[in-house]
Amino acid sequence: MSVLIRATELRDLPSLVECLNSVFLERRYLAIVEAIPAGEAMNHHATHIVAMRPHFVALDGERVVGLCDVSPGSPRIAGQAHNATLGMLLLPDYRGRGLGEQLLIKTLEASRGKFERIELSVYSHNERAHRLYQRVGFVEEGRRIGAWKLDGMTSDIIDMVYKFS
Ligand SMILES: CC(C)(COP(=O)(O)OP(=O)(O)OC[C@H]1O[C@@H](n2cnc3c(N)ncnc32)[C@H](O)[C@@H]1OP(=O)(O)O)[C@@H](O)C(=O)NCCC(=O)NCCS
Repeated sequence: MSVLIRATELRDLPSLVECLNSVFLERRYLAIVEAIPAGEAMNHHATHIVAMRPHFVALDGERVVGLCDVSPGSPRIAGQAHNATLGMLLLPDYRGRGLGEQLLIKTLEASRGKFERIELSVYSHNERAHRLYQRVGFVEEGRRIGAWKLDGMTSDIIDMVYKFS
């Protein structure tokens, strides 16, 4: 399987939305657990791409099989413009072979100089993601015990940060 990782382009958006919605519907790893209307999701990601924010896709041919991006908070919120929030995912068949690490490192490299802190939250049952974040240098800043409860399962929400030196 040959997978290319590159900066996201506007032409990737329809496939990117399919990828995103498919992982949302797994209901296990991400805060959103329902499909988002394609137009809404495309607008959101198009805004980031046009603004040249760090945004990468993993492509199998022309199909988006994974993505990683960072988003700054609202410009209306004072004092936090040095922070950005990272999100990432891969389709199930593409997990567990090092693609997540490659996507993450590219996104962090592209974030250097733009932000000082890259934040994320991960559920404690998501051990693979947690291990990956620790491996590349994210550290735990807090843990909200039992803050995630869905489909009969309870987990902690772990807040992590990567600080550029
Ligand atoms: C989290 C996620 C993006 C991580 O991506 P990934 O590619 O699975 O993770 P990695 O890059 O760490 O892959 C590493 C695993 O593959 C193994 N691997 C196999 N071949 C490898 C290679 N050539 N290079 C590196 N690792 C390799 C590693 O041993 C590692 O094992 P581990 O799971 O015991 O740590 C992915 O699992 C995913 O999309 N999960 C669902 C959505 C999600 O959780 N998003 C994050 C929410 S916070």
